[in-house]
Amino acid sequence: MEIKRVMVVGAGQMGAGIAQVCAQSGLKVQLNDNNAVALERGMQTIQKLLDRSVLKKRITEQEKLETLQRLSVSETLQDASKANLIIEAVIENMEVKTNIFRQLDVIAPADAILASNTSSLPITEIAAVTDRPEQVIGMHFMNPVPVMKLVEIIRGLQTSDQTYQIIEDMAKKLSKTPIAVNDFPGFVSNRILMPMINEAIYTLYEGIASVEDIDTSMKLGMNHPMGPLTLADFIGLDTCLYIMEVLHEGFADSKYRPCPLLRQYVKAGWLGKKSGKGFYVYN
Ligand code: 3HC
Repeated sequence: MEIKRVMVVGAGQMGAGIAQVCAQSGLKVQLNDNNAVALERGMQTIQKLLDRSVLKKRITEQEKLETLQRLSVSETLQDASKANLIIEAVIENMEVKTNIFRQLDVIAPADAILASNTSSLPITEIAAVTDRPEQVIGMHFMNPVPVMKLVEIIRGLQTSDQTYQIIEDMAKKLSKTPIAVNDFPGFVSNRILMPMINEAIYTLYEGIASVEDIDTSMKLGMNHPMGPLTLADFIGLDTCLYIMEVLHEGFADSKYRPCPLLRQYVKAGWLGKKSGKGFYVYN
């Protein structure tokens, strides 16, 4: 099966980014959200990034218009009846995600693939609420989606080889580099990234260095594009804490214990860039 029509469920930063790269690679895409304001905001983000790409001469005005023509919006999951791949990119909450997958399983064509952009929830458990677990898979994109090349493709216990192959081919069509990952807590990228961020927060908590110096150490010492505390603010401290908890619980290993300072910041509502304050202050 060749993927031709995609629905992306969830018009937040990740969903909008996924819809954009799919449309830019020639696929017909519906961006779906039950919140009209979020949908509007998602489409505006795509429009702005495409305008910038024209300005930077990465694409022509004509290519931008063609991309926008391939994109449409949808406020009801019923529209999934027209898609052969549905990529869910809603909040990291098992109940919300399984509720969507149950509905998609009924609405989507029998041969459609259901993918989740989850950063940490088990694909096997999401797949188990459907009657097509062999056609359920993880497609974990990185933020910002239009820029980052990696897609982790996560195979649930029941994901078929055929589903995996179709999604791997599709990720390449999006000009991304796929990696094959088995379904364990944090997958690969967050299993490595989040303990590093957590350790940077411990380094601050124990008074070993300042926020700026911790970031400088990794930026100039290891050539990371962002220091770990800047990156934590960019990802969202609530998301970082949530993923550390998934690792801690999933492996029952104290090496994944979330730093108390991270917990305290989240309790204070200091969630990073999105709330205006995290390890840094944002306007
Ligand atoms: N959306 C789309 N494009 C963006 C963007 C965004 N949110 N932010 C930056 N860009 C583009 C810019 O437009 C710019 O392109 P252009 O100037 O050629 O048009 C290009 O990226 C570079 O941006 P800047 O010059 O403003 O800044 P930087 O050179 O610092 O790059 C960055 C920004 C690409 C975000 C870079 O700092 C970076 O790679 N940071 C690390 C990002 C990272 O680690 N992401 C993974 C997070 S973890 C994750 O997603 C997993 C999840 O499960 C938690």
